[in-house]
Amino acid sequence: MMKAAGPFDMYHETIGKLAGNGIILLAGDPPNPMTIGWGTLGEIWHMPIFTVLVRPTRFTFGLMEKARDFTVCVLPEGYKKHLAICGSKSGRDMDKIKVCGFTLGQSANVGTPFITQSAFHYECRIVHKHRLDPSVLDKAIDHKYYQTKDWHMVYYGEIMGTFVNSEIV
Ligand SMILES: Cc1cc2nc3c(=O)[nH]c(=O)nc-3n(C[C@H](O)[C@H](O)[C@H](O)COP(=O)(O)O)c2cc1C
Repeated sequence: MMKAAGPFDMYHETIGKLAGNGIILLAGDPPNPMTIGWGTLGEIWHMPIFTVLVRPTRFTFGLMEKARDFTVCVLPEGYKKHLAICGSKSGRDMDKIKVCGFTLGQSANVGTPFITQSAFHYECRIVHKHRLDPSVLDKAIDHKYYQTKDWHMVYYGEIMGTFVNSEIV
C-alpha cells in the first residue's frame, strides 16, 4: 500500500541510493526508465525540488524535453541487475519496463506513472530546466566529465507527492 510522506522524509535513503547503485528516473509516454546517480533533493522558491541531470545523448533526454512531469522511483535492495539494465541499455533499442518486469501504477499528482516495485517514489512537475554552461563550469570538472561536450540538462521538478510502499519500507 502506498502511503503519503513528506518530501524530505526519505532524504537520507535517497541520497544513499543515488551514491550507490542508483535510482530510476521514469519519463515519457510510454514511460522509459533510466538509472540516475546524480541529482539533488532540497528547497528552492519555497518549494520542495528534485533536480535530475540528463545528458542529451540519452533517449530519456528527448522524452524529458517533451514532458511536463516525471517520477523518481527508488527500488529496494535486490534490484542491482535491473538498475544495471536501466543504466546501460537504451529505450531506443528495447522496452526496459518489459525486460525488467516492472509494473506501473497511476501517480496521484502527475501523468507519469511510478514503478510499483519501488520502496518509495517522488512525483515531480517540471518547473525549470537549463543546460550546464561550460563557460562558467570549473575547468577540471569540464575536462573530467564532458570530453564529448555532452553537458547535462538539469531539470527541476517540484515534488507534488512522495509515497512510501508500506509493504516494503
Ligand atoms: C549508476 C548509474 C548512474 C547513472 N546516472 C546518470 C545520470 O545521472 N544522468 C545521465 O544522463 N545518465 C546516467 N547514467 C547513464 C544512463 O542511465 C544510461 O546511459 C542509460 O542507458 C540511458 O538510457 P536511455 O537511453 O533509455 O535514456 C547512469 C548510469 C548508471 C549505471
